[in-house]
Amino acid sequence: MRYAFHVMRYAIKFMPKKQTRELTDVLTTSARIYQPSKEVLDRATVKDVEKVRKAAEKDPLKFWEEAANDLSWFTKWKKVFGGRKPFYQWFIGAKTNLAYNALDRHAEGENRDKTAIISEDETGRTRRYTYFELYKEVNKLVNALKAAKVKKGDRVAIYMPNIPEIAMAMLACAKIGAMHSVVYAGYSAAALADRINDAKAKVLFTADGSWRRGKAVDLKTIADEALKLTKTVKKVIVTKNNNQNVSLTAGRDVWFHDFIKGQSEKAKCAQMDAEDPAFVLYTSGTTSKPKGVIHVHGGYQVGVLRTIKWVFDLKGDEIFWCTADPGWITGHSYIIYGPLLAGITTLQYEGVPDMPEPDRIWQIVEKYNVNVLYTAPTLIRAMAKYGDEWPDKHAMPSLRLLGSVGEPINPEAWLWYHKHIGKGRLPIMDTWWQTETGMHMITPLPATPLKPGSATKPFPGIIADVVDKNGKRVPTGKGGFLVIRNQWPSMIRTIFNNPDRYVKTYWKEIKGVYFTGDVAFKDKDGYFWIQGRTDDVLKIAGHRIGTAEVESGFVAHKAVAECGVIGVPDPVKGEVIKAFVILKQGFEGSDVLKQELVACVRKSIGPVAVIKDVAFTDKLPKTRSGKIMRRVLKAQELGLDVGDTSALVS
Ligand code: PRX
Repeated sequence: MRYAFHVMRYAIKFMPKKQTRELTDVLTTSARIYQPSKEVLDRATVKDVEKVRKAAEKDPLKFWEEAANDLSWFTKWKKVFGGRKPFYQWFIGAKTNLAYNALDRHAEGENRDKTAIISEDETGRTRRYTYFELYKEVNKLVNALKAAKVKKGDRVAIYMPNIPEIAMAMLACAKIGAMHSVVYAGYSAAALADRINDAKAKVLFTADGSWRRGKAVDLKTIADEALKLTKTVKKVIVTKNNNQNVSLTAGRDVWFHDFIKGQSEKAKCAQMDAEDPAFVLYTSGTTSKPKGVIHVHGGYQVGVLRTIKWVFDLKGDEIFWCTADPGWITGHSYIIYGPLLAGITTLQYEGVPDMPEPDRIWQIVEKYNVNVLYTAPTLIRAMAKYGDEWPDKHAMPSLRLLGSVGEPINPEAWLWYHKHIGKGRLPIMDTWWQTETGMHMITPLPATPLKPGSATKPFPGIIADVVDKNGKRVPTGKGGFLVIRNQWPSMIRTIFNNPDRYVKTYWKEIKGVYFTGDVAFKDKDGYFWIQGRTDDVLKIAGHRIGTAEVESGFVAHKAVAECGVIGVPDPVKGEVIKAFVILKQGFEGSDVLKQELVACVRKSIGPVAVIKDVAFTDKLPKTRSGKIMRRVLKAQELGLDVGDTSALVS
């Protein structure tokens, strides 16, 4: 907890000078408020955001019940909300299916021939699936999975690129009622194996390979390595994606196209209880063991549909492009489920945004007439670095709204995004939320006046606050812990196989509220300014990585006795890792050893953990109980006041 206050105190100091100036500007004057244009206001579904927010705050259950009526239910709920604190339940007694609402009801209705998915890869290969075509593919997969004895409640691991087959695999699991566990394809074999073992997955979906920066990443080989470390997987389904040479183990591995061959194109959705788990998604916390966040069929779809429709104001035949990966919650909620629940077209791009040239992303926007672009600050900063001429070549007239997610967006990046991509006219929806929240929590709606760098105010039905460690609201302008005072339908239900950790992590830190792990402050207009994490979680290019996970990657090397890692500011990635390493006797620090250590961490986590620097040291700041004080390392590294060191053993 104490660490958190230091993060807060230094948050503004970490920022580059220009950014600090802009932030101070925004906080002290109203000059930089961006009012929505008449065009945006005329179209907005919610015109008077404050009025809707007040009504929802007064009666959140009524608000969410109305939202639930936008979906189909096999049986309606008896009660909107209940459960035993903090194991809350929503739409109690209802029967539904997430895939029915995302797919079947469109394929069987008026959206049947509408494009559900457009996909493009780095090489320019393009595919399109209408809702009906996607439905038929998913149904074949459902029948094949059932024939392979996959049933309700089973776990299915998915380690795949951002291609239509990942959506098919997720939807097929949801139809059967099996829980999918998607593992980001940038994780290593060891990380994949850990997640498979925790979930005891019996099936693994993967691909021969994927495209990244012109190179083929050999996913099947990584999956094979992971499978050597697991015993639970009985079937491996491999999508032929980029014609890699792979070996299939007889009796266990099968090509995706062979697996579904000859299967019926019809399949019914399992009638799931609203509270039945739909998926588990692993995310980093303060220990080296990732947490399996559980989301359910009923409430998750309500939160995701209401937010995608209102935040992005989606209507009709729109094309929505979220540049995240399905391996993260952003991809689950706003590449796959959200757009499909809303019955619009989602775009999946497999590759990096700057290949073959730095305007690839803007070319795609123009090629497909993308209406809403939802991306991350790290990508915006990386694109800005290439120079204004790249986006300025593209008029992108189809775009009507922009979004940002994953980490605080610095005002400088916000202004660049607004000017060069939004051409000075498009509002930016800076959406704050988490794996655990399932949906946007603090975010503007299109009619909200914007302040660059602020996620503005809570979504209707959400009551957020900034408090001290006793749960007392802190004064305006003062930093504190960001908490949520009420419950919402798409909230995390538990941590897979670890309910105690669920209670401890989210509900015990500050009494009576959901603890987000973030620090923030509110300004005089009630706008929230999120500053970053309070805990030992890093945000590298928007990806969430635990310091303890990285440290155990270092300690796995035979030369390492102890290690402490911190996040240091990076102009593009937000944060990158700096490691302080104590070597065992008989080993000496060298550049070669540094490279070996970086490779060792890469092996244990994967390329997601970007290490900037490794420093050899003979001492690490520790508490009396032997815990490494990362905040002291961080303050020393950044030349800041180390703060209270009474716990430090000298
Ligand atoms: O610190 C906040 C940051 O990302 C964390 C959640 O990470 P993850 O579960 O990986 O989900 C990322 C995508 C939803 C939060 O605790 N974060 C996310 N969005 C924002 C943000 N910080 C500031 N502004 C945001 N818009």
